[in-house]
Amino acid sequence: DADRIDAIVKLCRARGLVYPSGELYGGIRAAWDYGPLGVELKENIKRQWWKSVVQGRHDVTGLDSSILLPSEVWDASGHTEEFVALLVQCLSCHQRFPAAELAEQYRSRTGEELNARALSALVCPECGSRGRFTEPGLFNGLLETRIGPDEPEDRPYYLRPETAQGAFVNFGNVRASERRRPPFGIAQIGKVLRNEVLPGDFLFRTREFELMELVYFVPPEETEQWHRYWLETRNGFYRELGIAQENLRPYEHDRDQLAHYARRTVDIEYRFGFPDREWDELEGIVDRGDSGLAAHADRTGIDLSYLDRASGARYRPFVISTSVGVGRSMLAFLVDAYTEESTPNPMGGKDRRVVLRLDRRLSPVKVGVLPVSRSADLAPQAVAVTEELRQSWNVELDDAGAIGRRYRRQDEIGTPFCVTIDFDGLLDQTVAVRDRDTLLQERVALDKLGDYLTSRLRG
Ligand code: GAP
Repeated sequence: DADRIDAIVKLCRARGLVYPSGELYGGIRAAWDYGPLGVELKENIKRQWWKSVVQGRHDVTGLDSSILLPSEVWDASGHTEEFVALLVQCLSCHQRFPAAELAEQYRSRTGEELNARALSALVCPECGSRGRFTEPGLFNGLLETRIGPDEPEDRPYYLRPETAQGAFVNFGNVRASERRRPPFGIAQIGKVLRNEVLPGDFLFRTREFELMELVYFVPPEETEQWHRYWLETRNGFYRELGIAQENLRPYEHDRDQLAHYARRTVDIEYRFGFPDREWDELEGIVDRGDSGLAAHADRTGIDLSYLDRASGARYRPFVISTSVGVGRSMLAFLVDAYTEESTPNPMGGKDRRVVLRLDRRLSPVKVGVLPVSRSADLAPQAVAVTEELRQSWNVELDDAGAIGRRYRRQDEIGTPFCVTIDFDGLLDQTVAVRDRDTLLQERVALDKLGDYLTSRLRG
């Protein structure tokens, strides 16, 4: 629900996961800055994606292509013409809205299509005035830039809105250097930029974000089977990292919703629980047909087909792409992990506890080392334990303030284990290890601590 998202935004800020971008200057809604713990979480998500989609497979290789490409790439891919939104503007407050979104809202409320007559009855979601909209006009979602001193004024460069074109234009290179035959994939993680009309909903819609994208080349007759395969595999990825299946669902696009390059799109939706809608797109699994390779082959005259030497057949591979934003998936992991609960306290009462029940592989800090007090007797052991564990994981030594509050802080950032350094342990060379989820404490010998944690933090 909306309170939950609000609580997560506050927690992200207070605990150094995400800050508003450019805040000193009033901020911009287009992007967010990832703080010390946010980068850890983001890197962990990317690492798991890379392991699942690239390293753990024989048929996918990685790529890191550039943000700047010849502008002709975007002409060929159709983005210069088609990466557009129809906008209407409210004449009272001057806010612009994507006509498609207003139409969708209108359709779900009234069951009717939004036409010119309905437009005149529509209420502005921003200022509430009725029927004060312009006719829809086109707005291009590509962000333009200029490079070098000598580039002609009339031809801008574009900041890439997706990474997939980098894979298409490297199809021949990868196939040749890696000696690949379809089915095979090219995957990459990289920044993309889009001139979104209405960025918002925290990390959900920004103008600058990182995309994790797989472009998977298949023999044309195998397209359907691979589309199904990737839908299941990508859904499995979220399940395996702890997202509840009841919060995930497939959503098939109608023909009129399809992107210009898509033959068929099924989104994996997540139950984000925004105030105005429960579900929204987490990841898109798209059957692109041969549109990508065909467009570049037609434009350049370079043959981007594949000759299967075994059968003698020459064909242009079709493509299934899977695309998900790092920030958007981080938001889904946060929403799914965020838990408020009450726990018994030593005085017989109840404490309210906020826990991020993140999968251990995603947790930004794996181990919190907490001496029970700032006593000089405990400090050497706390430092020694921290330095040793730091060789393997991101570890935080925290000795400031009441121990109860320090546990709570670690719970709020999803730290799976806290190692408590106490006076008993100095005598028998043990520590107490507290489990975030069960709250059970176990005494572990110092010389076994590394093994104890390794077996629980594997992956
Ligand atoms: N290359 C295909 C493509 O980019 P898309 O549906 O426009 O398709 C793919 O975007 C994914 O990127 C989305 O499912 C979402 O996870 C993420 N995404 C898209 N626009 C975004 C935005 N403005 N801010 C954050 N993430 C976004």
